[in-house]
Amino acid sequence: MLIPRGLLAADPSRLQAEEVDVLVVGSGVAGLSAALAVPPGRTVCLATKDRLGHSATRYAQGGIAAVLDLVGDSVAEHVADTLAAGAGLCDPVAVQMLVEEGGQAIADLRELGVGFDPDPSGPGELARTREGGHSRSRVVHAGGDATGAELERALTEAVRATPSVHSAEHAFLVDLLTTEGRVTGALLWIDGRPRLVRAGAVVLASGGAGQLFADTTNPPLSTGDGIAAALRAGAVLADMEFVQFHPTALHVEGDPRPLISEAMRGEGAVLRDGDGTAVMAGVHPLGDLAPRDVVTRAVAARMAATGTRHLWLDATSIPADHLERRFPTILARCRAAGIDPSRQPIPVSPAAHYLMGGVVTDLDGRTSLPGLFAVGEAACTGVHGANRLASNSLLEGVVFAARIGTALAEDPHQEGPWPSGAGAGGTRVGVAGLGGPGAVENPAQLHPEVGYAPPPGDPVPAGSGDTRPERGGGVGEPLWVRDRVRRVMTDRVGVVRSGEGLAAAMAELERLTVGLGDPGPAGFEAANLVQLGRAVAELAAWREESRGGHWRSDHPAPVEAWRVRQTLTRSSDGNLETGLLAVPTAEEAHR
Ligand code: SIN
Repeated sequence: MLIPRGLLAADPSRLQAEEVDVLVVGSGVAGLSAALAVPPGRTVCLATKDRLGHSATRYAQGGIAAVLDLVGDSVAEHVADTLAAGAGLCDPVAVQMLVEEGGQAIADLRELGVGFDPDPSGPGELARTREGGHSRSRVVHAGGDATGAELERALTEAVRATPSVHSAEHAFLVDLLTTEGRVTGALLWIDGRPRLVRAGAVVLASGGAGQLFADTTNPPLSTGDGIAAALRAGAVLADMEFVQFHPTALHVEGDPRPLISEAMRGEGAVLRDGDGTAVMAGVHPLGDLAPRDVVTRAVAARMAATGTRHLWLDATSIPADHLERRFPTILARCRAAGIDPSRQPIPVSPAAHYLMGGVVTDLDGRTSLPGLFAVGEAACTGVHGANRLASNSLLEGVVFAARIGTALAEDPHQEGPWPSGAGAGGTRVGVAGLGGPGAVENPAQLHPEVGYAPPPGDPVPAGSGDTRPERGGGVGEPLWVRDRVRRVMTDRVGVVRSGEGLAAAMAELERLTVGLGDPGPAGFEAANLVQLGRAVAELAAWREESRGGHWRSDHPAPVEAWRVRQTLTRSSDGNLETGLLAVPTAEEAHR
C-alpha cells in the first residue's frame, strides 16, 4: 500500500495532542445533543468539519415524530407505523424504546428553547402534521418547514453556553485512533495540519453519506466520514444497502437539491404526472402518504413509463395563506427557481435523502469497539429497518444521545457490552479490499491507496465516455473521483438496482482510488465515498430480493429468508467481511 506522503510525516507520537474525556465528532442534532448529554464534570471536544450551526440538520424540514396526545394517538400506533415502514427489518426493542422516550425528548427540546410551532387549540399545545407512513398527525415542526434550522439554532446556543464543551471548527475526522482494540481518540485535520485528540470515549455523530449520489438533498459535507473511519478501525456496520430516496426534491440543478417536504402532501398536495393523473391513486391505501420507499418507486416508475425526468407536486389546492405560513422555506426556494406553488405545480424528482445503515450500536449507542459510540445518521440502532419512517430521525438523534449521556455516567470506562450478535453468523469474505494493516496506533496507515490506475487502453472508467472532469480536478484527483462515485452510484446503485448493474458498479468502484499526494479534506472525503460506495454496492449485490429502500428489478419481491440484516466489517487482512444478523419479530422480541 502506498501511504500519503503528508500523513506519513505525521508520526502520532510527535503530533501535538489534546486530551479530553469525550470527543464528539459532528455538530448536527445528534452531535450537539450528545455533547450536551455528557455528564457534568467531563471535558468535551465537539469537532465539526464546517462551522457550528452548519450541519445537515439545518436542511431538515418536516419535523419530529412523537406521541404527545394519548387520546388521539398511542405509542403502539407509532411503533406499528415504524415497523411497517421498516419492512420487516426494524429492531422492535429499539423502536419501542425510541417511541416511548419520544415525548420526553420533545419536552427536553422545549426546555432548551426550541420554538416548535404552537397549535391554536390550547396554550402549550403544539401543531402536528402527518407525513408518509404515519397513521396519525404526530409530526411537530418549527418555523413552518424549518424544523432542522430551529433545532440547530437552539442546540448550538446551548452548547456555546456550556463551559465544559469546547468546539473545534473546520476539524476533519481523518481516522480513529485505536489501542489494543479500544478507540482512544482520533486524528483530526485542522488548518491544513494533523492534530491528535486522545479521549476516554469518542462519539461519532458525523451524519450520513448522501453525497454518494449525484442527486441528493444532503449538503456537500455529507460524505460519511465517521462511518468510513469506523469501518477502517474495525467496527461493525449494518444495513448499508438501504438508502432512502426522497420522492420530491425540487427538479432544478443544485447540490444539494432543495427538498419539498413530505409535509406538503400531509397538508393536501398531490403527486401528478404530465397529464394531471394522480400518481399514487390505487398504488397504496395511504395514497400520497404511503411510506417513502413506495412513493419513490411509484414516481420513478411513472417517470420511466412516460419518458420524463420529473413529475409534478400539485399544492394549488392548499389555501395560499396557509401555504405561505406553513412552508416559507419551500416557497422561497421555488420562487427563486421561478415557480409559484400557489398557482402552478412544482416539478419534482427523487433524490438520495437518508442512509438507514451505519455503525451498529446497542440501545445505549455503544458500537462493537470499546470506547466508540455512534448516534444519528452515522449510527445503525435498528430503528429504521429497511426504510425509515418520516421524521423519526431527528427524534432518534435526541433520544439516543441522551442514552449515551446516561451510559457515560453509569460506566465511564465503557467496556461493553457489544451489540448482541453483531458480526455473527454466515460469514463471507468480500471483494472490496480496504488495504492496510488492522487497527494500529498510526492512523495514517489506515487511509486508502494513492493514485488512480486505469487499466491498459482504458483511460477512464468504462461508460463515462468523457475524459473531462465534471467539476474540476484531473483523472484520479479528489473531485474527479468524487464525481465518478456519484455518477456510478446514481446509475447503478440508485432507486432501482439489478445484479448486473451492481456488478458493474463494484468493478468500477474497485478501480477508483484517490490521489492524496497533498492530503486534505477533499481527498479524505473522496476516499471515504469510494469505501462507502463499495460497502453499499456489495451488500446490495448480496441481497437478492426487494425490500424497503433496496429494490432489485431482477428480484422484485421480498423473500422471507432475507428477513435478516447484513453486517460488514473489515477483516485483519483488509478485506470486507459480511455477516448476517437475525431480526426478531415484535412478538419474539417482547416474549
Ligand atoms: C421531509 O420533510 O419530507 C423529510 C422528513 C424526513 O426526512 O424525515
